[in-house]
Amino acid sequence: MPAVVIIGTQWGDEGKGKATDQLGERVDYVVRYSGGNNAGHTIVVDGEKYALHLLPSGILNERCVPVLGNGVVIDLDVLFEEIDLLAERGVPAASRLLISANAHLITPYHRVIDKVTERFLGKRKIGTTGRGVGPAYADKVNRIGIRVQDLLDASILRQKVEASLEQKNQMLVKVYNRPAISPEEVSEHLLQYAERVSPLIADVGLVLNDALDRGEVVLFEGAQAHHLDVDFGTYPYVTSSNPIAAGACTGAGVGPTRLNRIIGIAKAYTTRVGEGPFPGELLDETGEALRQAGGEFGTTTGRPRRCGWFDALVVRQAVRVNAVTDLFLTKLDILTGLEKIPVITAYEVDGERTETMPMTQTEIHHATPVYEYLEGWSEPLSAARKLSDLPKAARSYIERVEELTGAPVSGVGVGPGREEVVVIRDLLN
Ligand code: IMP
Repeated sequence: MPAVVIIGTQWGDEGKGKATDQLGERVDYVVRYSGGNNAGHTIVVDGEKYALHLLPSGILNERCVPVLGNGVVIDLDVLFEEIDLLAERGVPAASRLLISANAHLITPYHRVIDKVTERFLGKRKIGTTGRGVGPAYADKVNRIGIRVQDLLDASILRQKVEASLEQKNQMLVKVYNRPAISPEEVSEHLLQYAERVSPLIADVGLVLNDALDRGEVVLFEGAQAHHLDVDFGTYPYVTSSNPIAAGACTGAGVGPTRLNRIIGIAKAYTTRVGEGPFPGELLDETGEALRQAGGEFGTTTGRPRRCGWFDALVVRQAVRVNAVTDLFLTKLDILTGLEKIPVITAYEVDGERTETMPMTQTEIHHATPVYEYLEGWSEPLSAARKLSDLPKAARSYIERVEELTGAPVSGVGVGPGREEVVVIRDLLN
């Protein structure tokens, strides 16, 4: 089972690190294929906490090669800050990292534009992480982006930065009332990293296909999630890339038939940060109680996450579009102590009942959840390691999730620690 993709099935922050940990030492390559430093994961190794936003989690495992694929957008300031912080703590990240020559850069002007456009949108803002991710992808598609390989040719880099800033400076000055940005300063800023980046640049697609040919294990680590995907998410309240499993193909250079296992991470309830529709959002004290119990505050921005009960329509769509082979249910322990646990099994949209995610944005905005109430349990779950260790009601909850979503649950998170997992089916074999 050499190629495994891990994706979020909801709106992000499902706890993907839990499943990555399960694969642990068996992984040879860990690849990020989409997004940038808008992601955030905290990893605890031997009691030490590491907060990463851009580097793949495999960076901490010395026998595994961390990779940034062509689909990632890279802010070099953030990349080297993370690398240097790890080095200070004794993790030699830069010696193993591979970066695609075709990955695009987030430059200082992308960060500025992200912030001014959000401010300009006012009430209609997306609620981005403000890291410049959207504007960097916009330039990529608009064919005025700056790529990692441009750092290898200073004169080309200067020309491209100048071309990219030409129109942006007009907009900054005339529309947004901001100072123009100097192309020379930006070029020099980026070029200071050229020497450090150049030994890391690789033909990532070639490296990964060769690794798969040798039977090595490649883990594609999704950032964000299905419902933040620019094509399948709640557009326009989405990120600007394709976090879905298919994004691993376009964002790292491997063909669809090479992907063997697609692991969908689903939190036992639902959360979302930023703006956008969320039919099951609980705006009352129940939502607040879930937020406190689950510690639902963003790793990247610290924003409180919006909370609701498990929404089967949300996860079912992700299972279908991503051909999820296994679900990994996280944070089941947070539901302990409830007499009844509500689960969304359908929506009512303008008087009609639907069991699939509505097709249009208007319908999603008009959707009211229909709940089913499952038995709760009072026993703490954190010591459970196999299915039979769980209380009967918790097992029934898992079974109902499987029925409603159409995918088998292979692992369950029962606490924050790495080992606090119920393993039902191995994620590799
Ligand atoms: P952007 O990716 O910064 O452009 O933000 C677009 C939307 O995606 C916003 O609603 C963000 O809150 C959301 N978002 C981006 N990255 C993450 C993540 O890692 N977890 C959850 N939400 C995210």
